[in-house]
This record gives sequence, C-alpha cells and structure tokens, in this order.
Amino acid sequence: MLGRLNHVAIAVRDAKKAARIYGTAFGAEISDAVPLPEHGVTTVFVTLPNTKIEFIEPLGDASPIAKFVERNADGGIHHVCYDVPDIIAVRDRLIGEGARVLGDGQPKIGAHGKPVLFFHPKDFSGALVEIEQA
Ligand code: CO
Repeated sequence: MLGRLNHVAIAVRDAKKAARIYGTAFGAEISDAVPLPEHGVTTVFVTLPNTKIEFIEPLGDASPIAKFVERNADGGIHHVCYDVPDIIAVRDRLIGEGARVLGDGQPKIGAHGKPVLFFHPKDFSGALVEIEQA
C-alpha cells in the first residue's frame, strides 16, 4: 500500500531562490517554477536519485501555505508525500483508521499531473501527509 517517498516539501517565500543552492553546490537538477493556482502554490522541484525536494511558495491571496510561511519566515518543512498504488483505496483505509482527509476528500491533480490528497498532521505525528497516485 505504501510506495516510494515521492517528495519532501519545504515552504518558503521564494522557491526559485531557495532551490538555487541545490544546483550550485550539489549540482542537482532544478525544475522551472510552475504555478499551481488550484493549490495556491508555485513549485520548484529538485531531483535527487531516490526522491525529490519540492520547494513551494504562496500563490494568490488564499494560498493554504501563506500562514505557514508567515510563521516560518526562513522556510520550513511543510509536508511529506508518499506514492500509493491506488489513491482511493488508500484514502478509504486511512479514513477507516480515523485519519482526517483535508478538503472535500476528492483527489486533486497535483504537481506531477497525478491525483493527490492530504491528511491532517494531527493524525500523522505532526507531519502533514500527501499521498500521490503512483
Ligand atoms: Co507535495
């Protein structure tokens, strides 16, 4: 049921700027900045051999990460994302175990063009969890 660590997301004020040192110092591959209006964020991905780092910055007035970035002015780890083979089956199992899905519980298309869902940090040891259809 639980697949690869798809990415670790770090919320910042300027995603492109935050990702830069991964390119200059580590020589990592850095994506372009991609606005995701439906999610209220702009993303920049750093590709590692076994996973990705997703830098996210607030986009628009109603960005769900605006408050987080206000509280964490220097940036901070925002969520972890796991691949799952069947997002609906995993969602239903998690809900069955008492985990709270965020939003209306219907998957939205995420940064990689695949369905994603988020689960409440209080049900995952203080870490916001995203699951992505593998
Ligand atoms: Co994510």
